[in-house]
Amino acid sequence: MKKIIVTGGCGYIGSHTIIELLDNGFEVVSIDNLSNATENVLESIRKITEKRVKNYAVDLCDLAKTRQVFGENSDAVGIIHFAALKSVGDSMEQPLVYFENNLMSLLHILRCMTEFDIKNLLFSSSCSVYGNAQTLPVTEETPWQTAESPYGRTKQMGEQIISDFLRCHTDFNAILLRYFNPAGAHESALLGESPRNKPNNLVPIIIETAAGKRDSFTVFGNDYDTRDGSCIRDYIHVMDLANAHLRAMNTLLGGKQGNNCDVFNVGVGEGVTVLEAINAFEKVSGIRPNFHLGARRAGDVVAIYSDYQKAARELGWQPRRNIEDIMRTAWAWHLAQK
Ligand code: WQD
Repeated sequence: MKKIIVTGGCGYIGSHTIIELLDNGFEVVSIDNLSNATENVLESIRKITEKRVKNYAVDLCDLAKTRQVFGENSDAVGIIHFAALKSVGDSMEQPLVYFENNLMSLLHILRCMTEFDIKNLLFSSSCSVYGNAQTLPVTEETPWQTAESPYGRTKQMGEQIISDFLRCHTDFNAILLRYFNPAGAHESALLGESPRNKPNNLVPIIIETAAGKRDSFTVFGNDYDTRDGSCIRDYIHVMDLANAHLRAMNTLLGGKQGNNCDVFNVGVGEGVTVLEAINAFEKVSGIRPNFHLGARRAGDVVAIYSDYQKAARELGWQPRRNIEDIMRTAWAWHLAQK
């Protein structure tokens, strides 16, 4: 079986992507320092796939320990690099922590790729690279605006580092996947978003509020120039995102790439406002979570949603779930945990 090293494999997107890889014949090992996850997800993965995944609880900022893991898994044919800090809000308060963690870990991954000759990389990028895009929907050619947060900046810099690395190492290949807003849970309700740290993202906060873990939450601004005044995002179900990674890895391994550094938007191609997302949750759960309208959040872009036709054409990928599926599976995951 072809082995894939997944960094951040105990995290939200990483764990769901591991399921997709295992279900399609890959062997997987994870490197996750457990700063925002626990190894409990590995038991969920075993229940769902009947396969075991080993996690190396190693910080990718520690080059010696990272090198050791790669040395034990030098038979891997590819790497999927998820591991990064990803809160837009937190990055506004701790920019240096974000630059050091997200960039140093990437540099060590690239170094190990050359030292152990592992030639295929999938990089977890983000729609944050577009900043406050002037035209919507964004395509992969949409010019970048200034990143609205240090988080988004680390993704812009990460893409540029990889692109320069591949210009020099032409026998290596990478696909950069620009995620929009991942949300939802595995249909089995055995796996979902379970951050160790308090979530900053809208969907888990809606779930926590509906579950009574929070009295209420703030809608960060209803005075934006949008159809209902709240921000617009492109919410993509985490299993649709996982499938995009499977297809991208198969494209890398199949050597079918037009060039050795390709970029794809991975979103559902439509925008949903914060208030519409709340309505979708109420529609599938019968519960209207308690919220109040408050001030805008620093670092937020007004609106962003994707044109994913390039992924459809070149990866054969299509999103199959919508915002209601996201809310239904996220709520089912919460109820199953109770
Ligand atoms: C969504 C909307 C908030 C919480 C995410 C990921 C990031 C990247 C880009 C992948 C915004 C509003 C939120 C709350 C609110 N994805 N909101 N009240 O900031 O779009 O970033 O997508 O790489 O990793 O985090 O996601 O869920 O924080 O916010 O009103 O309590 O919900 O203002 O408009 P964001 P989010």
